[in-house]
Amino acid sequence: MPLSHIRQKLNSNLNLSPSFGNIIKITPNIIMANGISPSVGDIVEFSSRDCKNLGVKRELQSADLGMVSAVEKDCFLVNPFSFVEGRKSGDFVRIVKAGLQIPVGEALKGRIINPLGTPIDGKGALNTTQKAPLLRSPIAAMKRGVIDEVFELGIKSIDGLLTCGKGQKIGIFAGSGVGKSSLMGMIVNGVKAQIKVIALIGERGREVPEFVYKNLNNDLTNTIIVVATSDDSPLMRKYGAFSAMAIAEFFKQQGKDVLFMMDSITRFAMAQREIGLALGEPPTSKGYPPSTLTILPQLMERAGKEEDAGSITAFFTILVEGDDLNDPIADQSRSILDGHIMLSRELTDFGIYPPINVLNSASRVMHDIITPAHTQAVRKFRRLYSLLKENEVLIRIGAYQKGSDPELDEALEKKPLMEEFLKQDLLEKWDFYKTREQLQVIMS
Ligand SMILES: Nc1ncnc2c1ncn2[C@@H]1O[C@H](COP(=O)(O)OP(=O)(O)O)[C@@H](O)[C@H]1O
Ligand SMILES: [Mg+2]
Repeated sequence: MPLSHIRQKLNSNLNLSPSFGNIIKITPNIIMANGISPSVGDIVEFSSRDCKNLGVKRELQSADLGMVSAVEKDCFLVNPFSFVEGRKSGDFVRIVKAGLQIPVGEALKGRIINPLGTPIDGKGALNTTQKAPLLRSPIAAMKRGVIDEVFELGIKSIDGLLTCGKGQKIGIFAGSGVGKSSLMGMIVNGVKAQIKVIALIGERGREVPEFVYKNLNNDLTNTIIVVATSDDSPLMRKYGAFSAMAIAEFFKQQGKDVLFMMDSITRFAMAQREIGLALGEPPTSKGYPPSTLTILPQLMERAGKEEDAGSITAFFTILVEGDDLNDPIADQSRSILDGHIMLSRELTDFGIYPPINVLNSASRVMHDIITPAHTQAVRKFRRLYSLLKENEVLIRIGAYQKGSDPELDEALEKKPLMEEFLKQDLLEKWDFYKTREQLQVIMS
């Protein structure tokens, strides 16, 4: 055999000194193994005893991967990325040294991938060699840039009354079927961002193509979608969110303004609940173990604006059933986010789409980034609109006499214009400056 062949073999697929452990117990969600000593958070790969893929370097498959989640004196526990069916006691376990990495690069634009970076859109392999780690610490507090620029969404009611800034983190709170996916689609279509990363976590499989065709109009320009559906393992659903964030960070490091959008935080938290409970964590409020509340900031705090880099402006949807704002996930999210947009079922009954409840929503950075005249118009809009709400019943039954309250008269006169301002068709795009002008004209 020529020397070059031997060299090639040595350089390529063979790992000459792998050390292996063995599976000793399998339960529906957890695999117990011993023989090697990984640390918590390490990624391990399983292989069957017939040694088919032993030590062979190849693309990692979710079916064979797991994450070490607890370590005991002479054994350790692993959460599998896929399901445990087919695994046997005695199967081999090896540590994947590189940890969890995801392919990144320009080649991802326009693609739909799973949390480990495998394309699921049938358009072939990703043409990139760059990789980024899934898990990273958030932007250091002192490196965070101040939010001082408007992030234009192209949606009148948000740009006008709940203006968002580059690097802001916003929650979209809504019940099911109220219009989250539609609003997300409108934002993706209308936003002025160079890159858009969308994480669809825990949705039904059917909803994914529906979202792409119906809400995005099949237009994936500069868009990357990471999908973990409800039938994926809890670990896939959890890391789907981190994976999308890692991709957004890659583009942020290049100085781009990135839109990050995730549907939904609730399903992400539920995945962590499954993982935590299987490891024996105590359930607290609504069955959520404490680790659920700690992973929310670990994810959300990675968004933001960084000095000498670009920004990630993040929208997270949060399901609230029956407008229950005491839900632990909704509560914790609100404390981390710097803005919340409430969608209300009641508005859909009046045909107001997008059904944004402006009075219950807030953008905490807004007044630092808009002009004084704009601020004044917003305050007036809110004041008049809440007056209308307060006196709704009186007005409906005709008990209000015109002339008794000049402010309410003004509100009544402007009501049709204000309602018109809140409405926007799915495919309509509004320029930020046009929106601002319109608002100021209505309120003058
Ligand atoms: N801007 C809008 N214009 C018209 N109809 C809308 C709009 N937003 C939502 N809808 C209606 O509401 C329905 C549910 O919206 P969807 O976004 O799928 O809800 P969710 O994602 O919260 O379950 C849609 O099928 C659509 O008919
Ligand atoms: Mg939806």
